[in-house]
Amino acid sequence: MKTLIEGLPKVELHCHIEGTFEPELMFQLAQRNRVSLPYQDVDSLRKAYAFSQLQDFLDIYYQGMNVLQSEQDFYDLTRAYLQKIHSQNVRHTEIFFDPQGHTSRGVPFGVVVEGIARALDDAENQYGITSKLIMCFLRHLDQSDAFSTLTQAESFRHRIVGVGLDSSERNNPPQKFEQVFAEARNQGYLCVAHAGEEGPPEYIYGALDSLHVNRIDHGNSCLQDPALVQRLVQERIPLTVCPLSNTRLCVVDRMQDHPLKRMLDAGLLVTVNSDDPAYFGGYMNENFHAVTDALELNVQQLGTLASNAIEAAFVDSDRKQTLHKELHDYIAAQRNE
Ligand code: HPA
Ligand code: ZN
Repeated sequence: MKTLIEGLPKVELHCHIEGTFEPELMFQLAQRNRVSLPYQDVDSLRKAYAFSQLQDFLDIYYQGMNVLQSEQDFYDLTRAYLQKIHSQNVRHTEIFFDPQGHTSRGVPFGVVVEGIARALDDAENQYGITSKLIMCFLRHLDQSDAFSTLTQAESFRHRIVGVGLDSSERNNPPQKFEQVFAEARNQGYLCVAHAGEEGPPEYIYGALDSLHVNRIDHGNSCLQDPALVQRLVQERIPLTVCPLSNTRLCVVDRMQDHPLKRMLDAGLLVTVNSDDPAYFGGYMNENFHAVTDALELNVQQLGTLASNAIEAAFVDSDRKQTLHKELHDYIAAQRNE
Protein backbone atom coordinates (compact mmCIF):
# COMPACT_ATOMS: atom_id res chain seq x y z
CA MET A 1 0.00 0.00 0.00
CA LYS A 2 2.83 2.35 0.84
CA THR A 3 4.34 2.25 -2.64
CA LEU A 4 0.88 2.26 -4.21
CA ILE A 5 0.15 5.56 -2.46
CA GLU A 6 3.50 7.05 -3.41
CA GLY A 7 2.99 6.29 -7.10
CA LEU A 8 -0.69 7.19 -7.15
CA PRO A 9 -1.24 10.21 -9.43
CA LYS A 10 -2.80 12.73 -7.07
CA VAL A 11 -4.75 15.97 -7.17
CA GLU A 12 -4.63 18.41 -4.26
CA LEU A 13 -7.49 20.86 -3.71
CA HIS A 14 -6.87 22.33 -0.27
CA CYS A 15 -3.44 23.69 0.50
CA HIS A 16 -2.62 27.15 1.87
CA ILE A 17 0.65 28.23 0.29
CA GLU A 18 1.63 30.11 3.46
CA GLY A 19 1.09 26.82 5.30
CA THR A 20 3.83 25.16 3.25
CA PHE A 21 6.48 27.45 4.79
CA GLU A 22 9.00 25.00 6.26
CA PRO A 23 11.06 26.29 9.21
CA GLU A 24 14.35 25.89 7.30
CA LEU A 25 13.16 28.19 4.51
CA MET A 26 11.56 30.55 7.03
CA PHE A 27 14.90 31.07 8.78
CA GLN A 28 16.67 31.46 5.45
CA LEU A 29 14.27 34.15 4.24
CA ALA A 30 14.24 35.85 7.64
CA GLN A 31 17.99 36.21 7.35
CA ARG A 32 17.76 37.45 3.77
CA ASN A 33 15.18 40.07 4.78
CA ARG A 34 16.89 40.91 8.08
CA VAL A 35 13.79 40.06 10.09
CA SER A 36 14.16 38.46 13.48
CA LEU A 37 12.09 35.45 14.46
CA PRO A 38 11.08 34.92 18.09
CA TYR A 39 12.71 31.47 18.04
CA GLN A 40 16.34 30.44 18.48
CA ASP A 41 16.38 27.88 15.69
CA VAL A 42 14.38 25.52 13.53
CA ASP A 43 13.94 23.00 16.34
CA SER A 44 12.52 25.47 18.82
CA LEU A 45 10.15 26.76 16.14
CA ARG A 46 8.96 23.21 15.43
CA LYS A 47 8.42 22.69 19.16
CA ALA A 48 5.90 25.53 19.08
CA TYR A 49 3.76 23.53 16.66
CA ALA A 50 1.65 21.97 19.42
CA PHE A 51 -1.90 23.13 18.89
CA SER A 52 -5.07 22.40 20.80
CA GLN A 53 -7.39 24.30 18.46
CA LEU A 54 -7.46 26.21 15.16
CA GLN A 55 -6.68 29.59 16.75
CA ASP A 56 -3.41 28.30 18.31
CA PHE A 57 -2.25 27.41 14.82
CA LEU A 58 -3.47 30.62 13.19
CA ASP A 59 -1.48 32.76 15.66
CA ILE A 60 1.76 31.04 14.64
CA TYR A 61 0.80 30.86 10.97
CA TYR A 62 0.29 34.64 10.72
CA GLN A 63 3.54 35.22 12.58
CA GLY A 64 5.38 32.99 10.09
CA MET A 65 4.05 34.74 7.01
CA ASN A 66 5.47 38.09 8.24
CA VAL A 67 8.82 36.91 6.91
CA LEU A 68 7.52 36.95 3.31
CA GLN A 69 8.23 40.29 1.66
CA SER A 70 9.53 40.19 -1.90
CA GLU A 71 8.28 38.63 -5.11
CA GLN A 72 11.26 36.27 -4.86
CA ASP A 73 10.15 35.17 -1.37
CA PHE A 74 6.74 34.13 -2.71
CA TYR A 75 8.44 32.44 -5.63
CA ASP A 76 10.81 30.49 -3.36
CA LEU A 77 7.98 29.45 -1.04
CA THR A 78 5.81 28.20 -3.89
CA ARG A 79 8.75 26.60 -5.70
CA ALA A 80 9.67 24.55 -2.61
CA TYR A 81 6.08 23.29 -2.29
CA LEU A 82 5.93 22.34 -5.96
CA GLN A 83 9.23 20.46 -5.83
CA LYS A 84 7.94 18.56 -2.82
CA ILE A 85 4.62 17.59 -4.43
CA HIS A 86 6.40 16.69 -7.67
CA SER A 87 8.35 14.11 -5.65
CA GLN A 88 4.98 12.82 -4.39
CA ASN A 89 3.42 12.50 -7.84
CA VAL A 90 0.83 15.23 -7.42
CA ARG A 91 -0.34 16.05 -10.95
CA HIS A 92 -2.60 19.05 -10.27
CA THR A 93 -2.91 21.40 -7.32
CA GLU A 94 -5.27 24.20 -6.31
CA ILE A 95 -3.54 26.58 -3.96
CA PHE A 96 -5.03 29.03 -1.49
CA PHE A 97 -3.32 32.25 -0.59
CA ASP A 98 -4.26 34.87 2.01
CA PRO A 99 -3.71 38.30 0.38
CA GLN A 100 -4.88 40.18 3.47
CA GLY A 101 -2.12 38.57 5.53
CA HIS A 102 0.34 40.39 3.25
CA THR A 103 -1.35 43.59 2.10
CA SER A 104 -2.04 44.45 5.76
CA ARG A 105 1.77 44.49 6.24
CA GLY A 106 2.34 46.71 3.22
CA VAL A 107 3.25 43.97 0.74
CA PRO A 108 1.45 44.79 -2.53
CA PHE A 109 -1.12 42.33 -3.85
CA GLY A 110 0.80 42.07 -7.13
CA VAL A 111 4.05 41.06 -5.43
CA VAL A 112 2.26 38.11 -3.83
CA VAL A 113 0.41 36.91 -6.93
CA GLU A 114 3.29 37.41 -9.33
CA GLY A 115 5.76 35.48 -7.17
CA ILE A 116 3.37 32.58 -6.68
CA ALA A 117 2.26 32.56 -10.33
CA ARG A 118 5.83 32.55 -11.70
CA ALA A 119 6.58 29.42 -9.66
CA LEU A 120 3.34 27.79 -10.86
CA ASP A 121 4.25 28.50 -14.48
CA ASP A 122 7.74 27.07 -14.02
CA ALA A 123 6.35 23.89 -12.44
CA GLU A 124 3.90 23.39 -15.27
CA ASN A 125 6.70 23.76 -17.82
CA GLN A 126 9.20 21.59 -15.94
CA TYR A 127 7.03 18.97 -14.28
CA GLY A 128 3.70 19.13 -16.10
CA ILE A 129 1.98 19.96 -12.80
CA THR A 130 -1.10 22.03 -13.57
CA SER A 131 -2.48 24.42 -10.98
CA LYS A 132 -5.09 26.99 -10.03
CA LEU A 133 -4.95 29.84 -7.57
CA ILE A 134 -7.74 30.64 -5.09
CA MET A 135 -7.61 33.77 -2.97
CA CYS A 136 -9.11 33.49 0.49
CA PHE A 137 -10.78 36.19 2.52
CA LEU A 138 -9.88 36.20 6.21
CA ARG A 139 -13.19 35.70 7.98
CA HIS A 140 -12.11 37.31 11.26
CA LEU A 141 -11.89 40.62 9.35
CA ASP A 142 -14.86 42.68 8.11
CA GLN A 143 -16.62 42.15 4.81
CA SER A 144 -15.49 45.63 3.72
CA ASP A 145 -11.87 44.45 3.92
CA ALA A 146 -12.78 41.47 1.72
CA PHE A 147 -14.40 43.84 -0.79
CA SER A 148 -11.25 45.93 -0.99
CA THR A 149 -9.23 42.73 -1.57
CA LEU A 150 -11.59 41.76 -4.39
CA THR A 151 -10.96 45.17 -5.97
CA GLN A 152 -7.19 44.75 -5.66
CA ALA A 153 -7.48 41.41 -7.46
CA GLU A 154 -8.98 42.99 -10.58
CA SER A 155 -5.68 43.38 -12.47
CA PHE A 156 -4.86 39.74 -11.72
CA ARG A 157 -8.28 38.34 -12.54
CA HIS A 158 -6.85 36.00 -15.19
CA ARG A 159 -4.54 34.36 -12.62
CA ILE A 160 -7.15 33.62 -9.98
CA VAL A 161 -9.83 31.01 -10.53
CA GLY A 162 -11.78 31.40 -7.33
CA VAL A 163 -12.33 32.91 -3.93
CA GLY A 164 -12.41 31.12 -0.58
CA LEU A 165 -12.98 31.86 3.08
CA ASP A 166 -10.56 30.86 5.83
CA SER A 167 -9.18 31.80 9.28
CA SER A 168 -11.13 31.65 12.58
CA GLU A 169 -14.39 29.86 11.88
CA ARG A 170 -16.20 30.13 15.21
CA ASN A 171 -18.38 33.25 15.46
CA ASN A 172 -17.60 34.16 11.85
CA PRO A 173 -20.43 32.48 9.92
CA PRO A 174 -20.46 32.44 6.10
CA GLN A 175 -23.42 34.87 6.05
CA LYS A 176 -21.04 37.64 7.10
CA PHE A 177 -19.59 37.51 3.56
CA GLU A 178 -22.76 37.05 1.52
CA GLN A 179 -22.44 40.26 -0.54
CA VAL A 180 -18.76 39.95 -1.37
CA PHE A 181 -19.23 36.37 -2.54
CA ALA A 182 -22.21 37.49 -4.67
CA GLU A 183 -19.98 40.11 -6.27
CA ALA A 184 -17.16 37.57 -6.78
CA ARG A 185 -19.59 35.17 -8.47
CA ASN A 186 -20.80 38.04 -10.59
CA GLN A 187 -17.21 38.56 -11.74
CA GLY A 188 -16.96 34.89 -12.68
CA TYR A 189 -14.98 33.52 -9.75
CA LEU A 190 -15.71 30.01 -8.53
CA CYS A 191 -16.38 29.87 -4.80
CA VAL A 192 -15.30 27.71 -1.90
CA ALA A 193 -15.41 28.21 1.87
CA HIS A 194 -13.99 26.54 4.94
CA ALA A 195 -17.02 25.26 6.83
CA GLY A 196 -17.63 22.61 9.43
CA GLU A 197 -14.02 22.35 10.56
CA GLU A 198 -14.67 23.72 14.05
CA GLY A 199 -18.05 25.19 13.18
CA PRO A 200 -21.47 23.48 13.30
CA PRO A 201 -23.45 22.02 10.36
CA GLU A 202 -25.30 25.37 10.14
CA TYR A 203 -22.08 26.90 8.78
CA ILE A 204 -22.08 24.35 5.95
CA TYR A 205 -25.69 25.29 5.15
CA GLY A 206 -24.56 28.92 5.25
CA ALA A 207 -21.75 28.27 2.78
CA LEU A 208 -24.17 26.50 0.42
CA ASP A 209 -27.16 28.82 0.71
CA SER A 210 -25.60 32.24 1.34
CA LEU A 211 -22.29 31.92 -0.51
CA HIS A 212 -23.36 29.37 -3.17
CA VAL A 213 -20.02 27.60 -2.99
CA ASN A 214 -18.87 24.99 -5.50
CA ARG A 215 -16.98 23.04 -2.80
CA ILE A 216 -16.80 22.90 0.99
CA ASP A 217 -13.37 22.96 2.63
CA HIS A 218 -13.26 20.42 5.49
CA GLY A 219 -16.99 19.86 6.07
CA ASN A 220 -16.43 17.34 8.89
CA SER A 221 -19.41 18.45 10.96
CA CYS A 222 -21.90 17.49 8.21
CA LEU A 223 -22.00 14.03 9.77
CA GLN A 224 -23.97 15.48 12.69
CA ASP A 225 -26.85 16.20 10.31
CA PRO A 226 -28.18 13.30 8.17
CA ALA A 227 -30.33 15.62 6.03
CA LEU A 228 -27.25 17.70 5.21
CA VAL A 229 -25.27 14.57 4.29
CA GLN A 230 -28.09 13.53 1.99
CA ARG A 231 -28.07 16.93 0.31
CA LEU A 232 -24.27 16.97 -0.14
CA VAL A 233 -24.44 13.49 -1.66
CA GLN A 234 -27.33 14.33 -3.95
CA GLU A 235 -25.83 17.59 -5.18
CA ARG A 236 -22.36 16.02 -5.39
CA ILE A 237 -20.80 18.86 -3.43
CA PRO A 238 -17.11 18.06 -2.93
CA LEU A 239 -15.57 18.15 0.55
CA THR A 240 -11.83 18.81 0.79
CA VAL A 241 -10.93 16.84 3.91
CA CYS A 242 -7.55 17.28 5.64
CA PRO A 243 -6.76 14.33 7.92
CA LEU A 244 -3.45 15.38 9.52
CA SER A 245 -4.78 18.92 9.99
CA ASN A 246 -7.79 17.48 11.80
CA THR A 247 -5.73 15.50 14.30
CA ARG A 248 -3.17 18.30 14.81
CA LEU A 249 -5.92 20.86 15.48
CA CYS A 250 -7.87 18.43 17.66
CA VAL A 251 -10.90 18.47 15.36
CA VAL A 252 -10.52 14.67 15.56
CA ASP A 253 -8.95 12.99 18.62
CA ARG A 254 -7.15 10.09 16.96
CA MET A 255 -6.71 9.12 13.30
CA GLN A 256 -8.63 5.89 14.02
CA ASP A 257 -11.64 8.11 14.78
CA HIS A 258 -11.33 10.11 11.58
CA PRO A 259 -14.67 10.31 9.72
CA LEU A 260 -13.18 9.88 6.23
CA LYS A 261 -14.27 6.25 5.83
CA ARG A 262 -17.76 7.02 7.12
CA MET A 263 -17.89 9.87 4.63
CA LEU A 264 -16.89 7.54 1.80
CA ASP A 265 -19.45 4.96 2.92
CA ALA A 266 -22.14 7.65 2.95
CA GLY A 267 -21.36 8.38 -0.71
CA LEU A 268 -19.96 11.86 -0.09
CA LEU A 269 -17.58 13.29 -2.69
CA VAL A 270 -14.63 13.42 -0.28
CA THR A 271 -11.01 14.16 -1.14
CA VAL A 272 -7.74 14.02 0.84
CA ASN A 273 -5.61 17.15 1.19
CA SER A 274 -2.72 18.55 3.21
CA ASP A 275 -4.07 21.99 4.33
CA ASP A 276 -0.88 23.40 5.94
CA PRO A 277 1.68 20.65 5.44
CA ALA A 278 4.66 22.41 7.04
CA TYR A 279 2.68 22.81 10.27
CA PHE A 280 0.69 19.57 10.40
CA GLY A 281 3.31 16.93 9.73
CA GLY A 282 2.83 16.01 6.13
CA TYR A 283 2.06 16.57 2.48
CA MET A 284 -0.26 14.47 0.33
CA ASN A 285 1.52 11.11 0.73
CA GLU A 286 1.72 11.43 4.51
CA ASN A 287 -2.00 12.23 4.66
CA PHE A 288 -2.85 9.24 2.47
CA HIS A 289 -0.57 6.97 4.54
CA ALA A 290 -2.10 8.15 7.82
CA VAL A 291 -5.72 7.50 6.83
CA THR A 292 -4.92 4.28 4.99
CA ASP A 293 -3.16 2.83 8.04
CA ALA A 294 -5.64 4.05 10.65
CA LEU A 295 -8.84 3.31 8.72
CA GLU A 296 -7.56 0.30 6.76
CA LEU A 297 -8.57 1.73 3.41
CA ASN A 298 -8.36 -0.59 0.40
CA VAL A 299 -7.17 0.07 -3.16
CA GLN A 300 -10.69 0.75 -4.36
CA GLN A 301 -11.21 3.41 -1.69
CA LEU A 302 -7.88 5.04 -2.52
CA GLY A 303 -8.88 5.05 -6.18
CA THR A 304 -12.21 6.67 -5.29
CA LEU A 305 -10.47 9.39 -3.26
CA ALA A 306 -8.08 10.15 -6.12
CA SER A 307 -10.87 10.10 -8.67
CA ASN A 308 -13.12 12.34 -6.53
CA ALA A 309 -10.40 14.98 -6.48
CA ILE A 310 -10.24 14.97 -10.28
CA GLU A 311 -14.01 15.32 -10.48
CA ALA A 312 -13.95 18.21 -7.97
CA ALA A 313 -11.06 20.10 -9.60
CA PHE A 314 -11.58 23.48 -11.26
CA VAL A 315 -10.18 22.34 -14.62
CA ASP A 316 -11.71 21.80 -18.04
CA SER A 317 -13.00 18.44 -19.22
CA ASP A 318 -9.87 17.77 -21.33
CA ARG A 319 -7.59 18.02 -18.33
CA LYS A 320 -10.01 15.92 -16.27
CA GLN A 321 -10.03 13.24 -18.91
CA THR A 322 -6.22 13.14 -19.00
CA LEU A 323 -6.03 12.90 -15.20
CA HIS A 324 -8.72 10.20 -15.06
CA LYS A 325 -6.91 8.16 -17.69
CA GLU A 326 -3.59 8.40 -15.89
CA LEU A 327 -5.26 7.29 -12.65
CA HIS A 328 -7.17 4.48 -14.33
CA ASP A 329 -4.04 3.12 -16.03
CA TYR A 330 -2.11 3.29 -12.76
CA ILE A 331 -4.75 1.38 -10.77
CA ALA A 332 -5.14 -1.20 -13.56
CA ALA A 333 -1.37 -1.78 -13.62
CA GLN A 334 -1.37 -2.29 -9.83
CA ARG A 335 -4.13 -4.90 -10.10
CA ASN A 336 -2.10 -6.84 -12.70
CA GLU A 337 1.00 -7.03 -10.54
N1 HPA B 1 -8.67 26.61 8.75
C1 HPA B 1 -8.92 27.91 8.69
N2 HPA B 1 -8.07 28.79 8.24
C2 HPA B 1 -6.88 28.38 7.80
C3 HPA B 1 -6.55 27.05 7.83
C4 HPA B 1 -7.50 26.11 8.30
O1 HPA B 1 -7.29 24.89 8.37
N3 HPA B 1 -5.30 26.97 7.32
C5 HPA B 1 -4.90 28.21 7.00
N4 HPA B 1 -5.86 29.08 7.30
ZN1 ZN C 1 -7.57 25.14 5.17
